[in-house]
Amino acid sequence: MKVLVIGSGGREHAVIRKLKENKEIDTIWCAPGNGGISADAVCVDIKAMDKEGLVSFAKENSVDFCVVTPDDPLAAGMTDAMEEAGIPCFGPHANAAIIEASKAFSKELMKKYGIPTAAYEIFDNPDQAKEYIRKTGKYPVVVKADGLALGKGVLIATDENSAMDAVTEIMEDHAFGASGNKVVVEEFMTGKEVSVLAFTDGKVVKPMISSMDHKRANDNDEGLNTGGMGTISPSPYYTPEIAETCMKTIFQPTVDALNAEGRTFRGCLYFGLMLTPEGPKVVEYNCRFGDPETQVVLPMLKSDLFTIMKACHDGTLADTDVEWADGACACVIEASGGYPQHYEKGYEISGLDENGQYEGVTVYHAGTKKADGKYLTNGGRVLGITATGKDLSEALEKAYAAVEHITFKDMHYRTDIGRK
Ligand code: AMP
Ligand code: GLY
Repeated sequence: MKVLVIGSGGREHAVIRKLKENKEIDTIWCAPGNGGISADAVCVDIKAMDKEGLVSFAKENSVDFCVVTPDDPLAAGMTDAMEEAGIPCFGPHANAAIIEASKAFSKELMKKYGIPTAAYEIFDNPDQAKEYIRKTGKYPVVVKADGLALGKGVLIATDENSAMDAVTEIMEDHAFGASGNKVVVEEFMTGKEVSVLAFTDGKVVKPMISSMDHKRANDNDEGLNTGGMGTISPSPYYTPEIAETCMKTIFQPTVDALNAEGRTFRGCLYFGLMLTPEGPKVVEYNCRFGDPETQVVLPMLKSDLFTIMKACHDGTLADTDVEWADGACACVIEASGGYPQHYEKGYEISGLDENGQYEGVTVYHAGTKKADGKYLTNGGRVLGITATGKDLSEALEKAYAAVEHITFKDMHYRTDIGRK
């Protein structure tokens, strides 16, 4: 089998390393990939959004199966384009990827089908949004750009002034471009946040082991929101009872709701959950694997990933094993100093072997390139140092021990992943 993985981050690296365990697969391409991924797959210099280029590549190289990982190509119809060309994919069609691409859509879906989430209103006019916030007068209030915004389109305002500024920033200053043509104004929820990724073939949903992201740039959840600075799996807060409730009130109802709307979802559906005092509620949906959640979830998967991905496409997930290991996994992100704002690239990374790895851990490359046999930094999030252990403390100990040895100029990481 020849498999093409579309994307270029640590998440894609984790998917590829897991796919490599399947002996049926003899070639894995990654477009565009990165320096570290090139040790595990053949990187192809075609951008993840280049539908035409990727479909031609897949046809010319007789690709048997395509894994579309990032949100943008999914929302732009990469799966539709590949499948029209006869290449089966893991990843939803554009009409289902909208569950992430439009927060207004996902909120309306949850309201219509009674899926628990924060109370909200949607506005396409800034004055009306502001008037509603002033009238409601409840703070904090959450203001969200409707569309994709690299995880940055969510503003939490603690008072009236900052709420007005949030609406202005999104709708009038167009800080997130056309993604802010509409806003969702939402009630602020409190509780522990948990990520649950789930495999689904459009009928059956099989949740993966839970995980917990650390979104803020600095220790103690301070600093700016990032794509994620580290993850642990499983989440200690996600009990079997909560999992059962989520299955009944959120996971299966969401898959069924998408079907009822004629938007059957096949692939990885990501549930961002808040465990509120009134029970679990949806914070957000993503139409794809999370990053860096995938880096801690897939190492815990005992079953074969490729078999599961094909079953999601074929509609045979009910008959496919999805089993998880005991123990725990932790991932610490090494980022470029300055991320998520301005940062420099091109610094040499020391401590890695020729395959970009380090003994005792798995190093997922997020933003690296290879030049003259050396690994250089090439992005905001650079590496995800990942370890499994019999429990969370062992996994964290192993990951942090390796972090000491894998370094580059101005490197920044959080020292409190999984410590809370
Ligand atoms: P999202 O991109 O929708 O996941 O939002 C980013 C982050 O903002 C989430 O991970 C939460 O920490 C926070 N957030 C979003 N919506 C709410 C809400 N209604 N109440 C409290 N926190 C929220
Ligand atoms: N780590 C959060 C996400 O992938 O959206």
